[in-house]
Amino acid sequence: MAQLRELRASDRAALERIVRGTNAFREDEVEVALELIDAGARAGSGYLFAVATDERDEPQGYACWGLTPLTDGAYDLYWIVVEATLQGKGIGRALLDQVVRDVRARSGRLVIIETSGKPEYAAQRMFYERCSCTLLARYPDFYRLGDDKLVYMVRL
Ligand SMILES: CC(C)(COP(=O)(O)OP(=O)(O)OC[C@H]1O[C@@H](n2cnc3c(N)ncnc32)[C@H](O)[C@@H]1OP(=O)(O)O)[C@@H](O)C(=O)NCCC(=O)NCCS
Repeated sequence: MAQLRELRASDRAALERIVRGTNAFREDEVEVALELIDAGARAGSGYLFAVATDERDEPQGYACWGLTPLTDGAYDLYWIVVEATLQGKGIGRALLDQVVRDVRARSGRLVIIETSGKPEYAAQRMFYERCSCTLLARYPDFYRLGDDKLVYMVRL
C-alpha cells in the first residue's frame, strides 16, 4: 500500500526517472513535467503535488494539480504518473483520490482532466473511466491532425 506525502525538492531525480520510464511522454512533455516539479517544490507556486512512496520513502508516482486561473473552484489535473513496473496496483487511483480530497478541502467544485483520444492512450482513458471521471467533451484534431483532446471531469 503506497503512502502519500507532499513533494520535496529532493524528489526531482526520482520523479524524472519515473516520468521517463513510462515512455508515455515526448521530450517536450518531460521538460514541462520537470518545470512543474521545480515550481511545485517552491512555496506558493500554486502547483499542488501528492507523491506516492514505498516503505523506504522512495517515490512510486505522483500527481500534480492546481486551481484553473480565473475560475471559482475549477481545478486542472496537470499530471498523474505511476512508475511503469508498479502500474495496475491501485497507486494511480490512490493519487487521484488524494487530488479529489484536496480539491474538496479547498472548496473546489470540479477537477478537469485532459487526455488524448489516440489509440495509444486507451489505457489512460480506461483508468479515468474506472475512477468515475465523466467524459465531457472531445475536441477533434486538437493536439495534432488525428489526435483529439478528450476532457474528463470529476464534479464534487
Ligand atoms: C494512468 C496511470 C496513472 C494509472 O495508474 P495505475 O496505478 O496503473 O492505475 P490503478 O492501478 O490505480 O488503476 C485504477 C483503475 O484503472 C484501471 N486501469 C488502470 N490501467 C489500466 C489499463 N492499462 N487498462 C485498463 N484499465 C486500467 C484499473 O483496472 C483500475 O480499475 P479497478 O480498480 O476498477 O480494477 C498509469 O498507468 C501511468 O502512469 N501511465 C503512464 C503515464 C500517463 O499516461 N499518465 C496520464 C497522463 S498525465
